Amino acid sequence: MAPFDLKGVFLSAFDYKTEKYVIAKNKKVGVLYRLIQLSIIGYIIGWVFVIKKGYQETEESLQSSVITKVKGVTFTNTTGFGPWLWGPEDYVTPYQGEDVLFITTNFITTPNQKLGYCAESVKVLDGHCHANEDCTKGDTVIAGHGIKTGRCLKKDRNSTGTCEIYGWCPIERSSRPDVPLLGKAENFTIYIKNFIRFPKFDFSKSNVLDTSDDTYLKKCSYDELTHSYCPIFRFGDIVRRTGHNFQDMALLGGAIGILIEWHCDLDKGYSACHPRYTFTRLDVNAIANAISSGYNFRYARYFKNADGETHRTLFKVYGIRFDILVHGKAGKFNIIPTVINIGSGLALMGAGAFFCDMVLLYMMKKSTLYRRRKFETDNKNGNNNRENTDMSENAVKQPSELEQLADPTSVQHTPGITFTQRTKGQVM
Ligand SMILES: *[C@@H]1O[C@H](CO)[C@@H](O)[C@H](O)[C@H]1NC(C)=O
Repeated sequence: MAPFDLKGVFLSAFDYKTEKYVIAKNKKVGVLYRLIQLSIIGYIIGWVFVIKKGYQETEESLQSSVITKVKGVTFTNTTGFGPWLWGPEDYVTPYQGEDVLFITTNFITTPNQKLGYCAESVKVLDGHCHANEDCTKGDTVIAGHGIKTGRCLKKDRNSTGTCEIYGWCPIERSSRPDVPLLGKAENFTIYIKNFIRFPKFDFSKSNVLDTSDDTYLKKCSYDELTHSYCPIFRFGDIVRRTGHNFQDMALLGGAIGILIEWHCDLDKGYSACHPRYTFTRLDVNAIANAISSGYNFRYARYFKNADGETHRTLFKVYGIRFDILVHGKAGKFNIIPTVINIGSGLALMGAGAFFCDMVLLYMMKKSTLYRRRKFETDNKNGNNNRENTDMSENAVKQPSELEQLADPTSVQHTPGITFTQRTKGQVM
């Protein structure tokens, strides 16, 4: 055993080792390899770079602000409630112009309610009674309208009655109109102002045309081709675009999603970043007249009459809720994702070579031969690698280019190492 040669080990760290290739003159594997290479190149260029824009850094967290304004008026004249002119301040809830808004399309009013005693509605199950014992005084009616007084009100001795309650009387009438009272809301318009910002690229834009012509928004109405920067929509059109009918939906109410999508390729500049609107009905029922269909809620308006008694008008309103959702994604060229994608593409090429190696070494008729050429055993006595051993001997006799490239000092001082390196270079 030679003594441990520290200097030699140190110097060998600066030798460059290159890989050796075995060329297999096999057309099938060659064609297969080229096909794999071609499809990987196609995948990288076509899919990763052209379609998925792999050369771009992307930003998906979008900062957005939505402001809405509804316009339109309609007139109703119903028995009990009387004539009423409905403006946005009446039928839009909430009225601040948020990104979730409710439009009243149908309603039931119970005017002039006053605190007092009356019979509970027959629709409330907990209010049913046969005798006064069923109406414990002071109990609230579950899912009802007031507090039980202890009396059971019945038409005659044997019928089922309802408990008397203390509450807002008379109890709400529950006859829903057959046609939506505010059906004209179909022609009302909503103006959706949306400001977005991609913080990573410091890019801001709005969906309203950049113009100082203040009559523009008064005249225009959204059209994908001619007025794509006029975000004023007719409710009827919004519902139609979801594939439903406004009048049908207005009767019981529902929910509609307005999605604004910003897909911006910032390499193409400010003008290539456009909002895209899509409309979907969010409350879809599998069957017609499902018990879950519709959207309604109640509110009351209070007033005092001339005698100072508090009265109220109860409203049960049906309508359509609009949820405005903003999504976005922006991309801009950046060297890091470009290099990463090229790198992973090149690594995939390696997978192609690996697969062809598998085919060549294990699935071909002459696999054993190829295997013997590719894998060498460092065995002094063995004749497993007869040819290779010969090759290395030749290499020793006829100095190769590799030796000429080697650092002359290292040859001089540590011939053993140089020899090893050279042999390795030739054999591997
Ligand atoms: C909406 O307006 C159009 C045209 O102005 C009119 O023909 C239509 O009847 C209106 N729809 C409703 C529900 O009032």
